[in-house]
Amino acid sequence: MNADLDHIVFRAARGEDLPGILAFWAQAAENQARPADNIAVLAALLERDADALDLAAYDGGVVGTLISGWDGWRAHLYRLAVRPDLRGRGIAAELLRRAEARLAALGAARLDAMVLEQNGLGQSFWATAGFSAQPEWRRWVRSVE
Ligand SMILES: CC(C)(COP(=O)(O)OP(=O)(O)OC[C@H]1O[C@@H](n2cnc3c(N)ncnc32)[C@H](O)[C@@H]1OP(=O)(O)O)[C@@H](O)C(=O)NCCC(=O)NCCS
Repeated sequence: MNADLDHIVFRAARGEDLPGILAFWAQAAENQARPADNIAVLAALLERDADALDLAAYDGGVVGTLISGWDGWRAHLYRLAVRPDLRGRGIAAELLRRAEARLAALGAARLDAMVLEQNGLGQSFWATAGFSAQPEWRRWVRSVE
């Protein structure tokens, strides 16, 4: 496979992309310690914000994703992943560039991403992109009953 960035299409995901995105995440994403994904929750995301889930496509398949969430108050980035054999070509950087442009246009002043403590690859990406950890904060969570 010879996929340079010029041959990769970046666009907002649509409903018909969702099964392929779930299969892609199963093999390419950071999947620990999070609620399970399924078609219904992704369809609900697109219903609320049709441009929130951006993808990179190559040769008819999903090769990268990034969710840029905007709740009207804060911006959060989720589900950054690139197909393993296409990493190191700037796909994630382009997904982030697109997400930042979208979120800035919506009014976001700051971006954030959750990164697992043991994910050195993820930390390296976010650090290169100018993000830094906030050690004075710790996220507190509980499931909805
Ligand atoms: C993290 C990930 C999305 C990066 O995707 P990518 O398309 O390979 O990243 P890019 O090619 O755009 O690289 C951008 C920068 O990230 C850093 N980076 C990317 N791969 C790296 C690696 N293997 N080692 C160290 N730094 C790396 C580099 O600083 C790079 O900049 P450079 O090319 O100027 O050196 C990809 O490795 C991935 O899908 N990992 C598994 C899922 C994951 O952990 N996602 C992050 C969750 S927080």
